[in-house]
Formats: sequence, structure tokens, C-alpha cells
Amino acid sequence: MNNTVICPGSFDPVTLGHIDIIKRASKMFDKVIVAVLVNMSKTPSFSTEERIAFLKETLGDLDNIEIVGFSGLLADYARERGAKAVVKGLRAMSDFEYEFQMALTNKKLNPELDTVFLTSDSQYMYLSSSMVKQVASLGGDISSFVPASIHAQVYERLKTGTRKELLK
Ligand code: PNS
Repeated sequence: MNNTVICPGSFDPVTLGHIDIIKRASKMFDKVIVAVLVNMSKTPSFSTEERIAFLKETLGDLDNIEIVGFSGLLADYARERGAKAVVKGLRAMSDFEYEFQMALTNKKLNPELDTVFLTSDSQYMYLSSSMVKQVASLGGDISSFVPASIHAQVYERLKTGTRKELLK
């Protein structure tokens, strides 16, 4: 049976909440493709290569996880890769409407593709990449938000505000 799933996201940057969902998915399914969105509508703080490298630094030791960049429609990419489901984390109810909309759109575009929601661990319910960016850009401690191996790199980039949107 094909038990390949996709965990898609911007991962700008990856948080401990994302890592928790991906690791749990890797225990439930044979293969997890972590698909990093390349063509983001908003300029990301980290390049595609950086976002992929951050994920690889943290998840590199798990052999049923593949980390790749993707562009275009997720529904098409999932079909191309033979994935049977999208796996997403759900934090609070506030995530639900947007996630439900995406799940139904993907199902319409690719009827073979289901979406599986995993409940976020309670310690990560509040966590988001945008919150990490805001805290780091204001000099706050992000050590309990992002993997230890990438603290310094994330902090350095956001603190120095080398990208446009950090100066807003
Ligand atoms: O981490 P995010 O920003 O919540 O991830 C959003 C993502 C990458 C899952 C979503 O934007 C996406 O799938 N983009 C690809 C374009 C697409 O397929 N759009 C139509 C379905 S919403």
C-alpha cells in the first residue's frame, strides 16, 4: 500500500511546532515528503535553500523523511509524487477555517488527495513562524521556539534585519 504523505509549508523559518508534526507523521506513515513552498506570495525572510537546510539540520537523521522545494499547486505536486494525503498541524480553532478551505480546494483539484490534521502539541499551540520572527527581530529569546541547531542563524538574520520586511 502507498503510504506516502506530504507535509507542506512555508517554513520561514521552521518551528518546534512544525518539527513535532513532521516527526509524528513519520511514525504514522511509511514516507513523509516535507515540501517547502518556493514561490511564496510574500518575500520570505529566508531563501528556499536556507529553509530547506534548516529542516535538514533538524530532521536529517530520520530516514523516511525527504525534504524538497516545490512550486505550483500542491495538489499537482502530490499527484506527481504519488502522495495519498497532506498532513497538517492544527493549533487553535482559528487555524481551522483556512486549513479547511485549503483541504477542500486540494481535494477538488486532486480527488485522490486527502488531508489529515494532527492536533498540535499543547506546548506549541501558540507558536508560528511569524511570532518567531517578531520576537527575534525585537531581540527576544527564541530558544524555546526553533530547533537548537538553527537558533543562532535565525536570530542573526532577523536581529540584523537584512531583509526588507523586517524593517517595517
Ligand atoms: O506554512 P503555510 O504558509 O501555512 O503553508 C501554506 C501552503 C504551502 C501549504 C499553501 O500555501 C500551499 O499549498 N501553496 C501551494 C499553492 C496551492 O496549491 N494553492 C491552492 C491550495 S490552497
